[in-house]
Amino acid sequence: MTKVNCPQLNRVIDADPDKTLMKNLLQNNIPVASSCGGDGICGKCKMMVITTTGLEPPDELEKKTLAKNNAETGERLSCQIKLTENALVETTYW
Ligand code: FES
Repeated sequence: MTKVNCPQLNRVIDADPDKTLMKNLLQNNIPVASSCGGDGICGKCKMMVITTTGLEPPDELEKKTLAKNNAETGERLSCQIKLTENALVETTYW
């Protein structure tokens, strides 16, 4: 298990590293914006994700969707990433 800190909500959740960040958040009743249901297409689930050592780089689909959605450096699609270490996560809508 990894810890996901959501300071905007004053929540820290335990996350299963085998599941996406989005799934972990939803399972803890934390809302995640989405219109594609986690297919990596809509970009609405993008979040700022801060870890100590960094994440695996985005694949081509994630890169394309992040670019289309004017993502800032450090923003990732929560439906496409799995966390292998503790992280701090923020969005514009929490
Ligand atoms: S939910 Fe649509 S890109 Fe992640």
